Amino acid sequence: MQNWKEYQSENQDRFLSELLDLLRIPSVSADSKYKGDVARCAEAVKQHMLNAGCDTAEVCPTAGHPIVYGEKIIDPALPTVLVYGHYDVQPADPLELWHSGPFEPVIKDGKIYARGACDDKGQMFMHIKALEVMTKTNSQPCNIKVMIEGEEEVGSSNLGKFLEDNKERLKADVVLVSDTSMISMEHPSIESGLRGLAYMEVEVTGPNRDLHSGVYGGAVANPATILCKMIASMHDENNHIAIPGFYDKVQELTDAERTAINNAPFDLTEYNNELGVKAEWGEKGYTTLERTGIRPTLEVNGIWGGYTGEGAKTVLPSKAYAKISMRLVPNQVSQEISDLFKAHFESIAPNYVQVKVTAHHGGEPVVTPTDSPAYQAAARAIQTTFGKDPIPTRGGGSIPIIALFERTLGLKTVLLGFGLDNDNIHSPNEKYDVANYFKGIETIPYFHKYFAESFGK
Ligand code: BES
Ligand code: MN
Ligand code: MN
Repeated sequence: MQNWKEYQSENQDRFLSELLDLLRIPSVSADSKYKGDVARCAEAVKQHMLNAGCDTAEVCPTAGHPIVYGEKIIDPALPTVLVYGHYDVQPADPLELWHSGPFEPVIKDGKIYARGACDDKGQMFMHIKALEVMTKTNSQPCNIKVMIEGEEEVGSSNLGKFLEDNKERLKADVVLVSDTSMISMEHPSIESGLRGLAYMEVEVTGPNRDLHSGVYGGAVANPATILCKMIASMHDENNHIAIPGFYDKVQELTDAERTAINNAPFDLTEYNNELGVKAEWGEKGYTTLERTGIRPTLEVNGIWGGYTGEGAKTVLPSKAYAKISMRLVPNQVSQEISDLFKAHFESIAPNYVQVKVTAHHGGEPVVTPTDSPAYQAAARAIQTTFGKDPIPTRGGGSIPIIALFERTLGLKTVLLGFGLDNDNIHSPNEKYDVANYFKGIETIPYFHKYFAESFGK
């Protein structure tokens, strides 16, 4: 029997303080101002991999932010797990809504508050600490490769090439990722799917310059008004998305599958209260869990134009803009949905405005099998450390690279996430519970053990 628990409890304080140090590095991938910090964070991750016992670890440059890759091979005859995570984080704004600095982590009521605490530094670092636990107790059950990227939050645009270029080096039997959430510590769960993404930006132009809204208003179409109408028309009265062809490839689930999804513990009143909304909203005919897990959606992420500064300025803007994302489900294809959106948006534009539609990054939806030895190993690991069988759920978020692991490397993924939906990822006051961090470090070695055992080793 390994003395994992003993090693972990002897080193807990250091495990926590090392994570806090990592959270102090503002590795914001979207903002070029932080390029040096992103690079510094990659170096720190590499150093942690070496300290954890990796034979090799390197910072691999890309056309964007670097990828950190390390491995600890104990016996080529044993199975290999490829761990994936990301060390980059979302921008921290709006800063004024944080109770403490986003890059000055504090622990309050057992929760670590910082940008990246949960998404994904806290979660990916559990794997590095779990590796340390296994190597320092001479009980690593299988080969472990670790790939931590710095561009997940900006679409992983250079990781696809890295996979293509490193097929041999990345050879493994499964990919293990902690970058999703579970229902609660009382109801541990494993996400068995992620939605895809198509992200668009639109520009609507009216007159060739900003106009005095008194002199011209009423006689010239206001692009902000037209944009709002166009956006509003994209959901019908049942909140179905009104883009022709949008649902053509959507996989309808069987009644049994839908029942399974709705059997997960969920309290709608609590959900609404926690979010400060009086009533739920969504596509008719589906429950909240279905709306976020198995149905595609269309959301405005940002909308602007005209005067938004202090006080009032009377102006009829020349242009209005919006960023619009669509979450996709099997078997929708990101590029096809982008094309449908573009064609539709252009077709509904009245002739008194001009529109420009551009696509940002996208990603394909994934479903991870729940009957595979890898999923079973994860379920057993949860059972071992939580004392309960995990509930399979379908997650609403997206991790575009997961589909490429399958397409490029032929590998399935297990999403062993320890976040909670109310961890405020991408929001002010992001947090990660210390208990979840330690529970993750405790659970991960069992995954490796049970996965290796499933090969009869
Ligand atoms: N870790 C999240 C995805 C996630 C969060 C999955 C919670 C399941 C539950 C990831 O870092 C993320 O934020 N992905 C982006 C997409 C990316 C292309 C910017 C997303 O889902 O918006
Ligand atoms: Mn993430
Ligand atoms: Mn994220």
